[in-house]
Amino acid sequence: MDEPILRTTGLGKRFGAFAANSAIDFSVQPGELRAVIGPNGAGKTTFFNLLSGFTEATEGDIFFKGDRITRLAGPRRVARGIAKAFQTANVYPDETVLQNCRLAALAHTQGLFSLELFRRSTRLAPVDRIAEEALELTDLQAFADTRAGDLSHGDKKRLDIAIAIATKPQILLLDEPVAGMSIEEVHKTDRLIRGLTKRMTVLLIEHDMTMIMGISDSITVLHQGKILAEGTPAEIRANTTVQEAYLGGHTEGTL
Ligand SMILES: Nc1ncnc2c1ncn2[C@@H]1O[C@H](COP(=O)(O)OP(=O)(O)OP(=O)(O)O)[C@@H](O)[C@H]1O
Ligand SMILES: [Mg+2]
Repeated sequence: MDEPILRTTGLGKRFGAFAANSAIDFSVQPGELRAVIGPNGAGKTTFFNLLSGFTEATEGDIFFKGDRITRLAGPRRVARGIAKAFQTANVYPDETVLQNCRLAALAHTQGLFSLELFRRSTRLAPVDRIAEEALELTDLQAFADTRAGDLSHGDKKRLDIAIAIATKPQILLLDEPVAGMSIEEVHKTDRLIRGLTKRMTVLLIEHDMTMIMGISDSITVLHQGKILAEGTPAEIRANTTVQEAYLGGHTEGTL
């Protein structure tokens, strides 16, 4: 086996006395599509926040390609190649779809300080190329000149992924990318995510079990902040402990 692209040892996050994540020993191989599932409140988003540097761990360590990044700030992790799609909070609603991707590409290539300068500038070849590629991969080219705030819910969620892709990640963290989407939009996004795995490692949180079971190479189940089980989709589906965790208080995503 290759060296894991991402690995955690004893990773934990406490909010006061409450352990939202604890003792998480996790690793993912390059090119893998790994789903992270679990009942509401299991600690999935907290885990992604720790990996992306959005919040800081209170215990344990995170390694990216062998380097310890536990205390590295979020933007420095993006620069190393870890991107998280942040719902719609990352989108500038008054900028066009293309400009949103250009801003993300620029933040990657030149650093955040130059953003203001760039917003007034016109063209910048490498940044344009990266931004256009991000739109192609997410099938948003037709909306390049649309104001981001005017997109439909599904297209806005895909723009969020496009923005993450425009930072040229090696590993992409997607937190509920199809939440609230219509069936057609779910299928479109499912295809898009499958396409991305040829280029990068993908970690995916989702409650849509049909999608998860069809798309994942392997699945990590979180429950009460800890890893409850790991395995292939077939193994997880057959795991009685996992079934009990879901039946005990979660109604959305029966296995
Ligand atoms: N900033 C915070 N302060 C206090 N408690 C928090 C904070 N963030 C999360 N929690 C708690 O940690 C637990 C895990 O939350 P988290 O959002 O990680 O769950 P989740 O698995 O993503 O759930 P969902 O499926 O509903 O999105 C929850 O009980 C939540 O209330
Ligand atoms: Mg969550």
